[in-house]
Amino acid sequence: MNSEHQKKATIKDIAREANVAISTVSYVLNHIKPVKPETNKRIMEAIEKLNYQPRQVARSLKTRQSMTIGVIVPEISNFFFTEIIRGLEDIAYKNNYSIILCNTNEDVEKEKKYLAALMGKDIDGLVFISTGQNEHILDNYKDVPIVVVDRKLGESVSMILVDNIQGGYLATKFLLDKKGYPIYYLSGSLSISTYFDRMTGYLNALKEEKLEPNDSFIHQCELNIKSGYATMKQIIKSGQVIKSVFAANDILALGAMKAMIESGLTVGEEVLLIGYDDIETASMVTPALTTISQPKYEMGVSASKLLLEQISDKTTLTKKIIFTPELIVRDTAK
Ligand code: RIB
Repeated sequence: MNSEHQKKATIKDIAREANVAISTVSYVLNHIKPVKPETNKRIMEAIEKLNYQPRQVARSLKTRQSMTIGVIVPEISNFFFTEIIRGLEDIAYKNNYSIILCNTNEDVEKEKKYLAALMGKDIDGLVFISTGQNEHILDNYKDVPIVVVDRKLGESVSMILVDNIQGGYLATKFLLDKKGYPIYYLSGSLSISTYFDRMTGYLNALKEEKLEPNDSFIHQCELNIKSGYATMKQIIKSGQVIKSVFAANDILALGAMKAMIESGLTVGEEVLLIGYDDIETASMVTPALTTISQPKYEMGVSASKLLLEQISDKTTLTKKIIFTPELIVRDTAK
């Protein structure tokens, strides 16, 4: 049988020819994790021998839509992300799309595996709310309609962002006007664009007041409430003067608030506290949390609309939509 009629080799055929598991072939094709050199050699020889075309080529020949979009989220338990998903799912449902949701728990390896798994499925496009720590993770998927949300990933993909430099500036300027310096900045990893940008806004506000920043007032936390609590406990234990705290998300702010209250500090009077996100919990705790609001639902709606636009136009745009954050003043700093 001549080549144009030859059945297209599949990943299963490659695995059989190379005498390895299908998952091992996927690790190599999607750069998920390294395999032994001799295994890699057998897989590459099998790909050449069987003239295997990776799924991306098959995708570009794809005409039938699956009416399914993939969604990857870094922490499903954080109301910030669930509100984004609510917005994107409302638009997807209205347009007869289903979603496949993958939660990565802020784990970069899990994120790589889920991305490879989703790209191996028949999805029409992807909304990617990433860990923000795999800078080149989309390099192999240039022909797939993708919209990145929240944390930046390179420049050659559509993104739904918030002006986090402005958000960090608003929080810091407000605290400076109320209580002056020092202001503690409880951040996530500064390798993540949203936290780095909020710190940039924090530093801009200090610079505007001709204040010399001090690294000892900037702490990188893990992205959970316990880390906000433990970090604040350490700061209180150090005996340093604490006038106000800017926490780079509401989860960290809630943990820090518990530590302050447990230590006998009156939050909103002796010490001021501002969070970031304005998740539903922020207005429900006592004292209610002052925070920088992000338009979570609208971010999800915009992501979904932009992705569906790319799917229907069969384009991979690099369009950016940047939302403006807003200071919401409540009891912890007014
Ligand atoms: O709460 C999660 C945080 O990480 C949010 O501020 C969001 O911007 C993300 O980067």
